[in-house]
Amino acid sequence: MTSVLEVRDLCASRGGKPVLTDVSLRLESGRIAAVLGPNGAGKSSLVLAMSGVLPLDAGEVLVDGVALGRAAPHEVRRAGIAAIPEGHQVLTGLSVRDNLRVAGCVLAPGEVGAAIERTLQVFPELRELQPRDAGTLSGGQRQMVALAQALMSRPRFILVDEMSLGLAPLIVARLMKVLQTLAAEGCGVLLIEQFTHVALQLADHAYVMNRGRIHFEGAPAEIEANPQLLHAAYLAG
Ligand SMILES: Nc1ncnc2c1ncn2[C@@H]1O[C@H](COP(=O)(O)OP(=O)(O)OP(=O)(O)O)[C@@H](O)[C@H]1O
Ligand SMILES: [Mg+2]
Repeated sequence: MTSVLEVRDLCASRGGKPVLTDVSLRLESGRIAAVLGPNGAGKSSLVLAMSGVLPLDAGEVLVDGVALGRAAPHEVRRAGIAAIPEGHQVLTGLSVRDNLRVAGCVLAPGEVGAAIERTLQVFPELRELQPRDAGTLSGGQRQMVALAQALMSRPRFILVDEMSLGLAPLIVARLMKVLQTLAAEGCGVLLIEQFTHVALQLADHAYVMNRGRIHFEGAPAEIEANPQLLHAAYLAG
């Protein structure tokens, strides 16, 4: 069954200044949507607002037509949306396995072991690393843990913010392959990416943001064929 994540006319502020203005987008399960735009466009703020971290001034986030209201982050997670914030964030001082256990806190206690096993099948690289302090991992390994944490709750939608920042191309390719597989299995993926070419290759639909607004939406091929659509947003920044 197709699920739909919708953002309708979303507005949000940070430090008293508007950072998102009338943002609307739509993501279906099994699809990848890219959100592109220059530094400060509001991409990370959008992820924070969609995941219940940044309060909404106006607008709605809906799953299958049901508004989440002003849901707290753990309630958003329970509604099937998992965010992977910028910066390869893991809990340092805790082992990789404990990082996964913590992410499993939204599950019933009896489900956590099976969820860890399922997640390790997606990232076999992490199996041997389970006892390691997550703080000692490389950037690529941390990003795998961050993604694995998000997958623990078997989300219907994942919001991935600058996953490839600072990572080697081989690791980026590996992580992108995982996102493609997740989408093929029915997960909806919102992909925020500085490597616009990589994002456009993968995405089914693309949004271009600047100054807190969506300036363009359409087929990735349309942006590839008309790079000025992107350049205009970047230059306007
Ligand atoms: N913690 C904060 N407090 C106040 N304003 C912030 C904060 N973080 C970001 N902003 C502002 O919010 C706006 C949107 O920033 P945001 O980080 O969402 O953009 P972005 O598109 O993710 O940029 P980048 O490509 O650099 O990651 C910018 O004007 C930024 O200065
Ligand atoms: Mg950002």
